[in-house]
Amino acid sequence: MDQSNKAGATRRTNQDAAQRGYFRFSCDGNILQVLPCSEVDVALRSLYQPPMQRCLTLTFARHSRLLLRNKFASAHCQQSAAMSGLLINQPKYSWLKELGLSEDNPGVYNGSWGGSGEVITSYCPANNEPIARVTQATMAEYEETVQKTKEAWKIWADIPAPKRGEIVRQIGDALRKKINVLGSLVSLEMGKIYVEGVGEVQEYVDVCDYAVGLSRMIGGPMLPSERPGHALIEQWNPVGLVGIITAFNFPVAVYGWNNAIALTCGNVCLWKGAPTTPLTSVAVSKIVAEVLERNNLPGAICSMTCGGADIGSAMAKDERVDLVSFTGSTNVGKMVAMTVQDRFGRKLLELGGNNAIIVFEDADLNLVVPASVFAAVGTAGQRCTTTRRLMLHESVHDTVVERVAKAYKQVRIGDPWDPTTLYGPLHTKQAVDQYLAAIEQAKQQGGTVVYGGKVMDRPGNYVEPTIITGLAHDAPIVHTETFVPILYVLKFKTEEEAFAWNNEVQQGLSSSIFTKDMGRVFRWLGPKGSDCGIVNVNIPTSGAEIGGAFGGEKHTGGGRESGSDSWKQYMRRSTCTINYSKDLPLAQGIKFE
Ligand code: UN1
Repeated sequence: MDQSNKAGATRRTNQDAAQRGYFRFSCDGNILQVLPCSEVDVALRSLYQPPMQRCLTLTFARHSRLLLRNKFASAHCQQSAAMSGLLINQPKYSWLKELGLSEDNPGVYNGSWGGSGEVITSYCPANNEPIARVTQATMAEYEETVQKTKEAWKIWADIPAPKRGEIVRQIGDALRKKINVLGSLVSLEMGKIYVEGVGEVQEYVDVCDYAVGLSRMIGGPMLPSERPGHALIEQWNPVGLVGIITAFNFPVAVYGWNNAIALTCGNVCLWKGAPTTPLTSVAVSKIVAEVLERNNLPGAICSMTCGGADIGSAMAKDERVDLVSFTGSTNVGKMVAMTVQDRFGRKLLELGGNNAIIVFEDADLNLVVPASVFAAVGTAGQRCTTTRRLMLHESVHDTVVERVAKAYKQVRIGDPWDPTTLYGPLHTKQAVDQYLAAIEQAKQQGGTVVYGGKVMDRPGNYVEPTIITGLAHDAPIVHTETFVPILYVLKFKTEEEAFAWNNEVQQGLSSSIFTKDMGRVFRWLGPKGSDCGIVNVNIPTSGAEIGGAFGGEKHTGGGRESGSDSWKQYMRRSTCTINYSKDLPLAQGIKFE
C-alpha cells in the first residue's frame, strides 16, 4: 500500500473496526493485534506484540483482512491434497516465490548458492503435505563454507562498528519489506499461527534496530591504575566465527537475535537451522545475502549450511568455530556443550524450560486467565518459555481452573495461516506421540485430565490443548519438559512452598507470579526467590522483549542472547595496561631490584 492510500485506508478501517474489526494493523498494513473481543483474543494476540509496535498500531480495515484471506487463508489442506505434488506448485502458494523459493532449493550459502547433499522435503504441519525441497550441505561443502566464512571475517572485522551497524540496519529494512510473506512461510512450515509468524520476524527487525544503536555504544571502561603513568583499559574484540544452530520453533527470531548482535560486534556467522524448517532458513539467508551483495561485501559474512546432526556436530568439534550458539533440547545441548568444552571453545546455550506461573490469593484473576491461556496454548505449547506448570493458591484453585478451562473452549483451532485461528498444529508427528505418551504418564502418576487430552480428527498434527490437575508438584512428568500444550495445575498453600516448587525443577528459564503484594514481589526477585533467567510479575512466562537478555540457568544452559549486555557473549575482552611513563613500577608495590 503506498503512503497516500494509507491514511485514507486507515480512516475507513477505523470506521469499520468499530462495527466488525477484529484486528489492529500498523501503518504499513501489518497485522499487529486482535481487538479484545474475548479473553482468549486478548491472551493470544495482544500479549505477543512488542510494546513499541503496540504504540504504532492503528485500527484495522476490513479490506485488509480480506486481502490477507485471499492471499493466505484460501489454502485448504483437503484441496491441496487433491492436487498432489508440492504445495509450491499450486497457484495459491505462489507467494512463496516472492521469497525466491522454488521446487528445489540450494541449502548452502557462502557467497554463492550450492548444496549437493541429502535432499530433504519440507512438510506443512497443518496437513502433512510437501511444500518444497532443499538440498543440504555435504561435509565437503561445510568445509568449504567454513573456509570462506573465515576469509570473509578478515574484511568484516576491519569495518568500523557503526558502519557494520549500517549493514545491520539494511538487513532490518529488507526484513521489514518481506515481513508478511516471511511470516506466512513460518506459519506454513513451522505451523504457528500467522500473527506469531509475523511476530517473530518482527523480533529480528527489532533486534536489528537494537544492534544498530549498539554499534555506537559497545566498548570497555578505562579503569584506575594503581601505577603512576599507566592506563588500564578494557578492549573488546569480536570472537571471529559464530556458529548458530537454531530450533524449529523460532526459525527466524532466534537466528536474528544471534545474527544482528554477532555482526555488529564484528563477527561472521555460519547458520544451521532446524532440518524441518529449511525453507525458512533459505528464505532468510536470501534476504540477508542480498543486502551483503548489494553492499559489495562477501556473502560469506552470513553463511548457511542446511543439514542435520552431522553438520551440528561438525560445528561443535570445529576449532575454527569460535562460539557455538545452540538453541534446542537439553539433551542435544548437553552433547554440544561437552564437545565444545572438550576443545575449550565458547558456547552459548538456550535449552529447555519448565516454566511456572504462580497465582497468589491476592492476584488479579482478570490478568491471570488470559496470561495463562496465552502462555500455555500459544504456539501450541512449543515455546521454550511456554507455561507448563500453573501453581494456584488453594483459595483460588477451583475458580482459576474453571475459568481457564472455559477460555480453552473458546480457542479457535484451525489452519495456522487463517487470520482467525488462535491455535495450530504441532510441528511433527513425533510431537503428537510425545503428547499422547505424556498424557498417559500423567494419568498413571495421579493426574486428572480436566480439558483436552486427545488427538484431533483432522489432517495435520493437531492435538487438543490440555489441562491436567491433581498431580504432585514433584511427579516425574511435572518435572519433564514435553514440548506440547499440556498444562499441569498444582495446588499450593504458602509462598515458601510455591517458590520452592518453582525452583525444584532442573530447568531455569522463565517464571512468573501474579500478586499485588510488593513485599512478595521483591522476595520473588531476590536471592531466595525465582532462580530463573526470566523472572516476571503479573505477565506470562512467554513473550519476552528483545531489549532484555534472554536465557536461563541450570539445565537451560546459562546463555544470554538478544538485549542488555548479551553482546559480551559474542566478544572477547582484553585487559590492557599501557605504560606511558619513563619508569617501570610493578603492581602490588613489589620491588625487583
Ligand atoms: C523460544 O521459545 O525458543 O519469549 C524463544 C518468547 C519469545 C522467544 C521464545 N520472544 O516467548
